[in-house]
Amino acid sequence: MEKVVEAVRRAESIVVSTGAGMSVESGIAPFRGENGLWSKFDPHEMASVTAFRSDPEKCWTLFKLQIEECFYAEPHQGYSAVVALEEHGLDAVITQNVDGLHQKAGSEKVLELHGTLNDLLCDSCGNQKKTEDLVDEILEKKIPRCECGTVMRPDVVLFGEPLPQRTLRRAWSAVENCSLLINIGTSAVVQPAASLPLTAKRSGAVIVEVNVEKTPLTPSMDHFLEGKAGDVLVELLERLES
Ligand code: APR
Repeated sequence: MEKVVEAVRRAESIVVSTGAGMSVESGIAPFRGENGLWSKFDPHEMASVTAFRSDPEKCWTLFKLQIEECFYAEPHQGYSAVVALEEHGLDAVITQNVDGLHQKAGSEKVLELHGTLNDLLCDSCGNQKKTEDLVDEILEKKIPRCECGTVMRPDVVLFGEPLPQRTLRRAWSAVENCSLLINIGTSAVVQPAASLPLTAKRSGAVIVEVNVEKTPLTPSMDHFLEGKAGDVLVELLERLES
């Protein structure tokens, strides 16, 4: 941990990259591993673009569960620690998560690679709505429809869809220009997010992983901090600011 504290002190530009493990201590289930969402739902049946086009109502049983879990979730202290890193050179938070907890905690420089559950989209006419305006009916299992009659969908990247290109370009630029990347709570099996740390390393950055277990990326990391995201981040900030 002391080496990571020193790396933060020396860093000109810091990027934090987060996955579902960052939100577990806020009560949001991860996708993989024990009790993971994909152990209960088949992502290709419930969260792919072909599944949504053929049976949007079925996909909404998963969307509703995710909205139910995320909408009322509160960011834990680890999120506040990420906000505090903005005083220490944090230039971007790149997240695979769609729960919006970084913004809820006060982070402003958030790049959501996989979109967000907080916005709804109509694939037919492009109409957009805020989930919060329809959350009561969604939680009553009503499927939100656009005025044009089409079933709306959360503005998340479904399997088989491209990632938002502008967000992706900004994420690559951030990692290519940072001097420290902290990769938190991701199983590092989904591209292109899994390549961010290695791209940062190739650009000369120190790369750190925070996870409760090792991942395929761990051998490439300069430092591995084993532990829960909230616990590790709070300790990091306490040492940094002591
Ligand atoms: N603190 C830190 N890490 C944790 C914690 C915790 N409290 N709890 C779990 N983890 C770790 C797990 O060990 C695992 O490595 O978080 C990771 C969660 O992995 P996934 O569930 O695969 O989540 P993620 O890596 O974000 O998935 C990437 O896959 O299905 C797609 O779009 C979905 O964005 C998601 C992407």
